[in-house]
Amino acid sequence: MKISICGKGGSGKSTVVTLLALEARDRGYRPVVVDTDESNVVLYRMLGLPQPPVSLVELAGGKKMVRKLMPPKYEPKEPALDTNVLSRERLSLADIPSANVAEKDGVRLITIGKILQPLEGCACPMGVLGREFLARLQLEKDEIVIVDTEAGVEHFGRGVETSIDCVLIVVEPSFESLALAEKVKQLAGGLGLEKIWAVLNKANSDEMVSKLSRQLTQRGIAVIGSVPYDEEIFDACLEGKALAIGNTKAEIKKIFDTIIKGALTETTKAGS
Ligand SMILES: Nc1ncnc2c1ncn2[C@@H]1O[C@H](COP(=O)(O)OP(=O)(O)O)[C@@H](O)[C@H]1O
Ligand SMILES: [Mg+2]
Repeated sequence: MKISICGKGGSGKSTVVTLLALEARDRGYRPVVVDTDESNVVLYRMLGLPQPPVSLVELAGGKKMVRKLMPPKYEPKEPALDTNVLSRERLSLADIPSANVAEKDGVRLITIGKILQPLEGCACPMGVLGREFLARLQLEKDEIVIVDTEAGVEHFGRGVETSIDCVLIVVEPSFESLALAEKVKQLAGGLGLEKIWAVLNKANSDEMVSKLSRQLTQRGIAVIGSVPYDEEIFDACLEGKALAIGNTKAEIKKIFDTIIKGALTETTKAGS
């Protein structure tokens, strides 16, 4: 199963990614976080890792090599490049060199690539690499990929979600976040995706949860859980420390259960 987590900048995407990965691990799955956000430089810290893995862009040999290794179907591959693992049509996680996969207590992290230099050019090659890598990646039954995306909707334009099973939109209490959720629903639907759910984050009263849920339901988006505002999470984010599920356990468990069940029940169906 491949899950994509998206939403507005600062809404809590990376937080939800981390908490879901920890929950998946605790439930006996082998979660792999795929970081497709070229701007966030601290996801590895949230996962408690001492350093990030070497990015897949570096494994490819740099941004310029990405299109050569992973050309669109109509462009013939240059045979000499077949030695690079990324040029394979089908990949398993075991194929990825250990330098490109960081692991902490059963949670693995793969990073597509980061913008490192001023004037280094756009991040389009990262988009191609993220999309192709996810599409080529074959999972074992107990492996779950959780994709952390960059803020906004550009990743839909890049087609990162073409091989995704389920999209989770993280919504914080703001109109901008609600409006973006509607846009995400539309774009994900346009890719043929049906499992598009919202998770509320940082809504710190029942009234706020009801209000946001109502707004999302009106937009045709089902809410499958609400991660409360949590001081421990806030402090860990402030200090760059590993996140722990802690007080959010019950909600994260509920959200994870719905994802695993993989289908809307009557109670989670928007509008019901
Ligand atoms: N459930 C939460 N409780 C408390 N603070 C949170 C929570 N979720 C996110 N935050 C705060 O919001 C900030 C942004 O979260 P983050 O997951 O990095 O957002 P995104 O990945 O969407 O940009 C964090 O640095 C933290 O301060
Ligand atoms: Mg983030």
